[in-house]
Amino acid sequence: MRFDPEQFISDCRSALDGDRPSRHVGELVARAASEPGAIADALGRPDRSGLHVLVRSTDLTVLNVVWAPHMTIMPHDHRMWAVIGIYSGREDNIFWRRVPQAAGGRVEAASARSLCEKDSVVLGAETIHSVTNPIPRYSCALHVYGGDFFAAERSEWDPESLLEQRYDIERARRLFDEANRSALP
Ligand SMILES: [Fe+2]
Repeated sequence: MRFDPEQFISDCRSALDGDRPSRHVGELVARAASEPGAIADALGRPDRSGLHVLVRSTDLTVLNVVWAPHMTIMPHDHRMWAVIGIYSGREDNIFWRRVPQAAGGRVEAASARSLCEKDSVVLGAETIHSVTNPIPRYSCALHVYGGDFFAAERSEWDPESLLEQRYDIERARRLFDEANRSALP
């Protein structure tokens, strides 16, 4: 089956109108990820990492996320539901929880999930995760969010101190840029 990004976005948008949109989008992403080659054919083989926008609106963002080899992004939340579907490579997700009464909103690791090609996961609005691409090549995933991923007020946690700070999309973009520079021969 061919993967049609426009149709996928349209199906996601339709799911927003029903009950439990995250569950329905989760099913759409799971179905798409079950044919990873079709997504790769439609979106192209990656030659650089990044947050590639397929659609951005107030109630829906769809990204083609390309992780550089061995890249890690710090713990962060989304404050909206999210669905991840891997179509190439791997993502190791660590899930974090706030340490009760800890100063500075510190978090601690709570669980982890290794995602492989064809795997998908639905994340709740309160989820805090960090992501590592553990392999020496690009890993690629569809990431769908129930809001405007780039505009939402949310948090990230310093990777060294694990203290909470305001999410800075420019810092995230710089991480991808640095990963691209270090991936160049
Ligand atoms: Fe995330």
